[in-house]
Amino acid sequence: MSAARHSLAWVAGAALAFIWAQRGLAADSSNSVDRYRASAQGLIVEISAPRDDVIRVRAGRDRLPEDASWAVLPAVRTHHQNMALTQTGPTVQLRTAALIVRLNTATLELEIDDAAGHVVLADASRRSLVITPGAAGAPDSIELRKKMPADAHYFGLGDKTGPLDRRGGAFTLWNTDASQFSESTDPLYKSIPFMLGVAETGGSVGVLFDNTWRSHFDFGKSERDTLLIGAEGGPVDYYVLAGAGPKAVIETYAELTGTAPLAPLWALGFQQSRYSYATDAEARAIARRLRGDRIPADVLYLDIDYQDRNRPFTVSSQAFPDLPGFIADLGAMHLRTVLITDLHIARAPDEHYAPYDSGAAQGVFLERPDGSPYVGKVWPGDSVFPDFSRTSVREWWGGLYADFVHAGAAGFWNDMNEPALFDVRSKTMPLDTVHRIEEAGFEPRQASHAEMHNVYGMLNSRATYEGLLKLAPDRRPFVLTRASYAGGQRYAATWTGDNTSTWNHLRLSIAMLNNLGLSGFAYAGDDIGGFSGPGPSPELLTRWIEIGAFNPIFRDHCEKGKTAQEPWVGGPIQEAIRRRYIEERYRLMPYLYALAEENSRTGLPLMRPVFLEFPQQVARTGPGGNADQFMLGPDLLVTPAPIGESPDPYLVSLPGSGWYDYWTGVRQNLAEVTETPRLDRLPVWVRPGSIIPREPLVQSTAELPRGNLQLWVYPGPDCVGHLYVDDGVSLAYRSGDYLRQSIRCRTEENVTIVEFDAREGRYQPWWHEIELTVHGVAGSPRRVVLAEHTVASRFDAKTQTLHIRLPDQPGVSQLRIEAAP
Ligand code: GLC
Repeated sequence: MSAARHSLAWVAGAALAFIWAQRGLAADSSNSVDRYRASAQGLIVEISAPRDDVIRVRAGRDRLPEDASWAVLPAVRTHHQNMALTQTGPTVQLRTAALIVRLNTATLELEIDDAAGHVVLADASRRSLVITPGAAGAPDSIELRKKMPADAHYFGLGDKTGPLDRRGGAFTLWNTDASQFSESTDPLYKSIPFMLGVAETGGSVGVLFDNTWRSHFDFGKSERDTLLIGAEGGPVDYYVLAGAGPKAVIETYAELTGTAPLAPLWALGFQQSRYSYATDAEARAIARRLRGDRIPADVLYLDIDYQDRNRPFTVSSQAFPDLPGFIADLGAMHLRTVLITDLHIARAPDEHYAPYDSGAAQGVFLERPDGSPYVGKVWPGDSVFPDFSRTSVREWWGGLYADFVHAGAAGFWNDMNEPALFDVRSKTMPLDTVHRIEEAGFEPRQASHAEMHNVYGMLNSRATYEGLLKLAPDRRPFVLTRASYAGGQRYAATWTGDNTSTWNHLRLSIAMLNNLGLSGFAYAGDDIGGFSGPGPSPELLTRWIEIGAFNPIFRDHCEKGKTAQEPWVGGPIQEAIRRRYIEERYRLMPYLYALAEENSRTGLPLMRPVFLEFPQQVARTGPGGNADQFMLGPDLLVTPAPIGESPDPYLVSLPGSGWYDYWTGVRQNLAEVTETPRLDRLPVWVRPGSIIPREPLVQSTAELPRGNLQLWVYPGPDCVGHLYVDDGVSLAYRSGDYLRQSIRCRTEENVTIVEFDAREGRYQPWWHEIELTVHGVAGSPRRVVLAEHTVASRFDAKTQTLHIRLPDQPGVSQLRIEAAP
């Protein structure tokens, strides 16, 4: 029997039906199927379409892998759009409203085209799907080979180092405690097997390779123009996401794996940390200095030394005799406390260590194949490890937070969750350590650590997130995790791990955070100032704080034993510059928060590479291009020097013309600008056509701003800005307690019109008046009219700005600025 004759299909809405493929018959059958299976060469492949613009491919030897996922939301994964099936010879064609899949049923080669006939993703012409049986009970290894079009650029895979564009690189996904990583260290802490391909013509594709085993993506490194995706075990189960541009693919990825829930507002504030503020007195001194020096800040972190003998969920009574009192006093200073809670539990039987005792009693810890507990060394010494693949264990873990939540801690930090182990070359636990999967959607079964390793950190942060929600159902949890997997953005923010205090690490952070954002992790930051190494020079720390002020998570953190690196270190001149940038972030908080809210709906990251807004710029992601730049939302473009320590002038190219200098408001009509580096200036540009909401300076987001909402209007094409406000901490916004409003502007002949859309939601804003600053105004207007009444305005010739004060505009309204003839 020929391989092709094994092809079969499921007919939608009907009982199972078989359609026998026959060679040589043109379009001999036309049917609607909701899944299609073909077998050839000892392999079976299933094709389905969870959405019209997403194709899912599953394959295995003799049988299909388990249909389950830690990453993809069940509602999407189990949804099957109908596909119109036609067959021509060995080629089966499956068509959704957006895509056409062509499968050669003899070779199992696959090509996916969009409705216009452009190739979205095509298999390489040989060995496009290889499943190699493992020797002696070892798992099958798998590899996919896809073509890489010459003009395509590749992104994603989380915070891998190296250039922004991953073309020409090869990467391993294996969560690793990569302390003191360098530019070429791989693997790192997270495994996000999602890549985004963007062609210079704009067409974009995403691939989520949903396999938790040690895996790899090779973007033409081993074999020119060939994308290799493979794993040392686990399923062939991948999703191809097609989109008209990169944003569409990112939004579809969010439909598949979920978005990050809206963070508490304070998580966007400045966060001060170090390993460790080891005593109550030391931590309070930092808090007092932040306030005394008027450095706006929202969070202070306590690293492992607040604990008793590094035991998670304990408090050292010497170091912090009254933790609730400490947290309350910080709260009175408008600072929140985030506590580290690592996942290793000290193996301390009979020592009244509750996490060990209750965990052991409930059998939550991972075991060796012989049934003995797995014990490994981490901070507390001999430790045991919860099996987060069990729902009941996650619930047990979540419950451990009760005392800390009760004590007022605002958020939690899940570190070392690759998991990291000391004193072993692998840096982690043995691969045959036994997990038990007990999770809706999965077969209840045992799973090796080889299968669960990459998803362990994500399940740890999930247990924390879900536990916190249960303990405080109306409060937005804040969890910071180091390790994660695709979809982990649903539970935690992240940072890039133990970087080093060098200019190169500061530079690397931009591509790392941009790629994290493209991989779902919109809330990402790096250790500002660098974690390891000799402390940063004052200039490096200053520049780092300047850039960090425009990153999604803004946390200053460093290693034990290092010289201090808080914002005041290095003297008053440096401190004044740093303060100015931290203040600027607080002034921009309404803009940042509206981006966070957008992210919670769409998955679009807060921090973005330039090409996400300007896809034609993807051709410039290579050396000498714009890979060292980033955007904060659609409107702000941050352009640090590509070599941060160099005093040499550098060229900044702006996509299109008419950008405004953020600091001076001056409109720049050139597409290329020469910047001469100055430590007190980080060049930032505003897209023509934006409206940026701002607020009066506060020292913490716990303070209500006093004064007026400011709207800075930068006229240009498609001019729009967004406001989003709520209480910042609770979940009341989900039932209508929020305020959302768009404001637009346009210029008609010699009239500039600013329009307020109707406001959504019932949240009452903190302002009563709005101060409008319109940039790029040539002269004093003839008049300004709001609802037929003339409004006073003030023209500033020096800055070419027009200032107008309005009562709050909750409803639809229009302001007309009529230029003088
Ligand atoms: C790890 C973390 C670091 C933390 C330290 C102590 O190295 O990456 O951020 O400070 O452990 O907890």
